[in-house]
Amino acid sequence: MNENFNVGDYEIKPVSSANLDWENLPFDYVETDYSLVANYSDGKWQNACMTKDHTITLNECANIFQYCQEVFEGAKAFCQKDGTVACFRPWAGAQRMYYSAARLCMPQIDIPAYVYFIDEVVKANLSYVPPYGSGAALYLRPFMIGTGKTIGVKPASSYQFRIITTPVGPYFKGGEVSIKCRVADFDRAAPRGTGAIKAGLNYAMSLFPYMQAKEEGYAENFFLDPKTNTFVDETGGANILFVSKSGTLVVPKSLTNSILNSITRRSIVRIAEEICGMTVVERVVSLDEILDESFVECGLCGTAAVVSPVSTVHANGMDIEFPNSQNGCGPVLGELRSILREIQLGEREDPFDWIDKIY
Ligand code: PLP
Ligand code: COI
Repeated sequence: MNENFNVGDYEIKPVSSANLDWENLPFDYVETDYSLVANYSDGKWQNACMTKDHTITLNECANIFQYCQEVFEGAKAFCQKDGTVACFRPWAGAQRMYYSAARLCMPQIDIPAYVYFIDEVVKANLSYVPPYGSGAALYLRPFMIGTGKTIGVKPASSYQFRIITTPVGPYFKGGEVSIKCRVADFDRAAPRGTGAIKAGLNYAMSLFPYMQAKEEGYAENFFLDPKTNTFVDETGGANILFVSKSGTLVVPKSLTNSILNSITRRSIVRIAEEICGMTVVERVVSLDEILDESFVECGLCGTAAVVSPVSTVHANGMDIEFPNSQNGCGPVLGELRSILREIQLGEREDPFDWIDKIY
């Protein structure tokens, strides 16, 4: 995509000026002032613009409705301690969308153009960026859909890219309160499938087991590797982290490359190794190790989840407890979470160049 895109004029309002109860925001969709929209046709991206129209009108035979060509990202913008507004690691999201789009035969968006779009859409929605200290963030959801008509199974010839924004509070009710999870009876991905990309179709696969988990009183599912059902992959919306009895951060690797390459997880690993000097091991983690009570802490990590403590996982008819995550994050994940938050909020120096200052 041409880097010299100009999204045109839009109104800039004061930061956090929307009339919202910032401290008590749920993780729900609220319409904000503008969304960014760009269309792809005739083999190239056409000019992008801001729109106040939060609906999309498409032909009924658009690929998104028939064959699910859709990829997306998630990112957050924060008010920082010094009063500026910044986004956390948009370059990493841009790279991942590049990879996701390629897997679904969709067009690429250049990384500089993607980050420019992120910056512009945040500036256009400054009034919805929650104030510093509120604990909330402006969630950014970039996504791309196949808009071209397709009835035979093939990729669309036209696409739309959008970034919608919405102010959000914690993903799990209660914020830092520990949640209970269970091991799912279904797979969210196939061994050589699309589990490693951020595509809506993976989430559609997880809805049935998600509703089952909810009915049984669990907040999320742990999905096992889809080939052997032996190793822990990830949850429906976050990667998993464990801390062993010796204090090592144990980060599950997927046997079948079927988990999302979480930006939060990669950030936590660097913080653990380079700031805290911790031992980090990235390897397959078997369900048996969990059943053997090998871990003292467990947490879910993601843009929405940040680092959410897990007190219990239900598996093989048993409740396995993580003793140090019973009442919020334990000491290890708690420290890593705090450092991540401090970098995101500009309370601590960012030695990794993760912060994209926007306004
Ligand atoms: N795994 C899944 C299935 C997710 O939906 C997410 C959320 O984005 C993550 C992991 C965490 O990824 P990230 O930290 O990049 O948000
Ligand atoms: C994110 O964390 O950005 C996601 O896309 C996960 C989703 C469950 C909200």
